[in-house]
Amino acid sequence: MVDAYNHPGSMIARAYDLRSGIYDKTVARSEFKYHLEALRRIDWRPEMRILEVATGPGRVLSEIATRSGKGTTLHGLDLSQKMLTRTRKRLDRLGFRNYELQKGDCRHLPWPDEHFDLLYNGYMMDLIPDADMDQVLAEFLRVLTPGGQLILLNMSKQDDGTGFLESLYETLPAPLALYFMGNCRPVHMAKRVAGAGFRGVKREYLAGRHPSEIVTANKEIG
Ligand SMILES: C[S@@+](CC[C@H](N)C(=O)[O-])C[C@H]1O[C@@H](n2cnc3c(N)ncnc32)[C@H](O)[C@@H]1O
Repeated sequence: MVDAYNHPGSMIARAYDLRSGIYDKTVARSEFKYHLEALRRIDWRPEMRILEVATGPGRVLSEIATRSGKGTTLHGLDLSQKMLTRTRKRLDRLGFRNYELQKGDCRHLPWPDEHFDLLYNGYMMDLIPDADMDQVLAEFLRVLTPGGQLILLNMSKQDDGTGFLESLYETLPAPLALYFMGNCRPVHMAKRVAGAGFRGVKREYLAGRHPSEIVTANKEIG
């Protein structure tokens, strides 16, 4: 697997602030059908506390808001303030009030242990450098309640060979990989998720214009 360039968080935030408008109308729109597939894996329960890490422009959190029951509380986190502003506008347009958004880094989630029943994260692990992935997954595990569900959706590939997207990523100088590819390269996350202590890890590969994987898992009960 090709490693991601290790840009400082401020640079990633600036790049996604700058890309937020165009990202919303292009990539986020065409990847949305992959999110819809991932959302079908949600194990719905009454009065859930749901966290989306890396909300981007908020298409997914809005979809979750329209599907969830009255007692559901939604939380969103992103490094980019402009992405969060888009998310807030979407949720407000829906008339959904039961939510909180925070600017922050997935490496240090600003919530106590065992706080969420579901953690959803789409197209973010693929921009995290290998060396930081275990820390991010440890945070995801920490904030989930026992039995809580993790759903990851990542840019991925069917096998271990180096494909076009990785070759392109490696060829581009680091700043161009950030601004043109959002720093994203294909990843395989299932083994790491199991290694982080999650149980019942499942991976599904989704082919098509944006080859992706859905990885689902749970935090152990007791
Ligand atoms: C490729 S976009 C995906 C956005 C959204 N999940 C979607 O699928 O449309 C990646 C998002 O992750 C956010 N991000 C990048 N690094 C992050 C970090 N360390 N912590 C939290 N969010 C981060 C970016 O600001 C951006 O909104």
